[in-house]
Amino acid sequence: MKQFISVNDVANINALVEKALYYKANPFADKQLGAGKRIGLLFLNPSLRTRLSTQVAASNLGMEAIVFNVDKEGWALEFEEGAIMSGSTSEHIKDAAPILGSYFDVLAIRTFPSLKNKEDDYSEMYINQFIKYAGVPVVSLESATLHPLQSLTDIITIQENAKLESRKSKPKIVLTWAPHVKPLPQCVANSFAQWVNAWGEADFVITHPKDYELSEQFTKGATIIYDQDEALKDADYVYVKNWSTFTDYGKIYVNDPRWMLTNEKLQLTNNAKVMHCLPVRRNVELSDEILDGPNSIVTTEAGNRVWAAQAVLSEILNSKR
Ligand code: CP
Repeated sequence: MKQFISVNDVANINALVEKALYYKANPFADKQLGAGKRIGLLFLNPSLRTRLSTQVAASNLGMEAIVFNVDKEGWALEFEEGAIMSGSTSEHIKDAAPILGSYFDVLAIRTFPSLKNKEDDYSEMYINQFIKYAGVPVVSLESATLHPLQSLTDIITIQENAKLESRKSKPKIVLTWAPHVKPLPQCVANSFAQWVNAWGEADFVITHPKDYELSEQFTKGATIIYDQDEALKDADYVYVKNWSTFTDYGKIYVNDPRWMLTNEKLQLTNNAKVMHCLPVRRNVELSDEILDGPNSIVTTEAGNRVWAAQAVLSEILNSKR
């Protein structure tokens, strides 16, 4: 694996999932693989899970991880080609990225979308500039449109749970929109749709209010149902997530609290397991009764972030040998 930006960088999803589950059972099996190697974790936005799970994963492989909160501690970066830098930005990505590439064997980067300029966000301008100028493998810790480490984790969690249940048939997975107090990116929902579609081992339904349609480049292949109750029928997994509008970009159109998942709605499902990437706004996106109840697997899911990151870093280190 040369980089990890989307599912398109993965040759075999099931093999990567198995590798992650192997590391879950044997965290230090490849303790020597990353010896003498260094990963730079660059954050242009806050993080709890992504930052710490990737540090733990690197440590399990014997790699040194150095975190740099670019947004708080670095010079303000300029990404525009040909910019006249007389404004607030101090350093061009063209100058910064090759230096970072000379310090690290792998660069991992979290950027977020502006939610103002759809064209810029969906061109993945920020992470693509790092890839262009860094000269070392780049791992996405969430970009403007995708969150591949989260989605790999989600497939790992579903597979792990299927093994525990000795499931033979395809699960029904429902991605449901949920209310939120502020406009959030489409990254997690886009990425989850992209991975479930590429994985191809589930009946996949997406439910959201009208006008919250996601980009078809990620959802194509899924069934879209606007009636949440109908969508939830017989679901084995319900993935809850808010996102802002895609077409009229970055807006909140409705915030109907009836879209929050409750135990009553869970009755419609096949005793579904409930997933969320976290952080979650309790009793806005998801009710206490669900999060604290027996169907929630959000803590296991977040724990699996380590094994997803470890599997990806292992693939990258092996391809650099
Ligand atoms: N799910 C996730 O990416 O969490 P953080 O934003 O805390 O890293």
